[in-house]
Amino acid sequence: LTYYSLYFISWNRKLGAWIAQRRAPSVAKKYDEIGGGSPILEWTKKQGSLLTDLLNERNVSSAPHKYYIAFRYTHPLLDATLQDISRDGVERVVVFPQYPQYSCSTTGSSLNQLAAFLSTNKLSAAANDNLKKVSWSVIDRWSLNSGLIDSIVDLIQKEMKNKLDSSMDPSKVMLLFSAHSLPLYVVERGDTYTTEVASTVMAVMSRLQYKYPFRLVWQSKVGPLKWMSPYTDKTIKAYAGKGIKNFVVVPIAFVNEHIETLHELDIEYGEDLRKELKLENIIRVPTPNVHPAFIEGLHQEVSRHLSSQDVCSAQLKVTCPHCTNPSCSQMRKWLEGLSKRHQ
Ligand code: FES
Repeated sequence: LTYYSLYFISWNRKLGAWIAQRRAPSVAKKYDEIGGGSPILEWTKKQGSLLTDLLNERNVSSAPHKYYIAFRYTHPLLDATLQDISRDGVERVVVFPQYPQYSCSTTGSSLNQLAAFLSTNKLSAAANDNLKKVSWSVIDRWSLNSGLIDSIVDLIQKEMKNKLDSSMDPSKVMLLFSAHSLPLYVVERGDTYTTEVASTVMAVMSRLQYKYPFRLVWQSKVGPLKWMSPYTDKTIKAYAGKGIKNFVVVPIAFVNEHIETLHELDIEYGEDLRKELKLENIIRVPTPNVHPAFIEGLHQEVSRHLSSQDVCSAQLKVTCPHCTNPSCSQMRKWLEGLSKRHQ
């Protein structure tokens, strides 16, 4: 049985279990307010299914393809997914994190965990044996994927056409590209996330021919540390104070809807803040979800990766300049071992 497998790691409580614990009571209330739970698993399944359909249809030489999902801090967890991969007798796995922009606290942390599982025999003996025979590789960043950019551009244009007065002066509409923030100490360590997010923003704005004023802003800060800013809500307040009444908020680092879009952007800013500041519009652009261009982009990324024979990007092979985490170096050793096997 030869499965080409696609393994998704989706954005979820990215800075660790301690944040999840700190937020637990308030997060439970927020989930109630968005209908009782996160839709992230369902969206990820739909994306995986559409992607594997395209691969099975177009990439016959590597078929059949099957997707598996693992989350970092919620079910299905990585160890259970690895057991499934082992049980199915998979021979080749492409690890495809659903974070288009790489951060050591999201993709990096998930890869560190994967490398630890595969290098330290933590699973059952049979699973360890089977997984050692698997050929692994990683798509570690895809911030400029053309399908990702196309889908975001199309979603922005549709939302603006449907919800804004067509006679409105474009210079009076502020586009805010909102990404999950991260602590400044992570940025200062040399993390590439902020520059990769900015690259996606600039690619989208280039396609929109820089028709609107725009800013890259940061959301979802927790705890007392300093995080990457300007924050989304404070930016809206500041521009409202300068007389701007119409905002279009674009989630730029999320590929499917979940609590940060459905609660923070839609309820806390789109409803509560809009009313408080007496704004005309805060329009929230949907995430790519199953937009056809986005699914094409996923297919393009996997196809290109399979034909390249690369284990990962050159960028992933080097740690952050100020990294002191031994797990990051161990993950690179694991990658090095994979590269030797691929030669
Ligand atoms: Fe970036 Fe370790 S923190 S490689």
